[in-house]
Amino acid sequence: MENLDFYNWFDKISIKLETRKDSFYQIFKYLDKIPEPITIVETGCLRIKDNFSGDGQSTLLFDKYTQSRKNNSKVYTVDINPSATKVCSEIVSENVSINTGDSVKYLNTLSKEFFKNKTDVSLFYLDSFDCDWKSPYQSAQHHLKELVSIKKILNKQTLVVVDDSPIIGYLQQSNVKKDTLEFMKPGLVPSPTISGKGSLVHEYAVHTGAKILFSNYQTGWVGFN
Ligand SMILES: C[S@@+](CC[C@H](N)C(=O)[O-])C[C@H]1O[C@@H](n2cnc3c(N)ncnc32)[C@H](O)[C@@H]1O
Repeated sequence: MENLDFYNWFDKISIKLETRKDSFYQIFKYLDKIPEPITIVETGCLRIKDNFSGDGQSTLLFDKYTQSRKNNSKVYTVDINPSATKVCSEIVSENVSINTGDSVKYLNTLSKEFFKNKTDVSLFYLDSFDCDWKSPYQSAQHHLKELVSIKKILNKQTLVVVDDSPIIGYLQQSNVKKDTLEFMKPGLVPSPTISGKGSLVHEYAVHTGAKILFSNYQTGWVGFN
């Protein structure tokens, strides 16, 4: 598969991605600028066939993308649930290394190996531990632990994306049109920030000078190191 064939395929299915459509497109456009081999590491694999709008089918998207890039471009994914890794293995190609286990432990081991053999990771896509929107902290903490596990192999251009991480803020009715809402000026209330799975990853990004590349329902940062 050539890069152009990937985009022909992506354009056909992207409507099904709904709220993730534009951010997945930005992920691939960013990866296009990175020289091969492209290495993608993902936590939380495709677990339900054809569930494009609910989950995203990220493993399938990354599988197709890396097949369109040369020089041993590859995907590594991990999921704690054996039924999820089984479903995933029936859908994606052998270009995806599928692992069953806890993501923090897996990333810790993989990072040591990649550090030793100087493997550059182009994209970390963190999407494990489902987010309970009424109490998102356990999920946010888990994703921060994932970031800690990969910290030493992040380089300047590594893109880190966390799913289920939209911008959150305090809103007010706009003065002109009362049926529209706008962010309130920070001061009385905190500034808008990132919520959900990536909320603590974002706090860390703010402290370390990493920058948001995009934020829709998924948020992507570069420059952690
Ligand atoms: C939202 S789903 C992943 C969806 C997938 N990325 C997609 O686009 O189709 C989250 C997955 O994370 C897995 N998970 C939860 N806790 C985990 C952990 N500690 N380590 C690894 N995977 C975990 C769940 O089993 C579940 O399959």
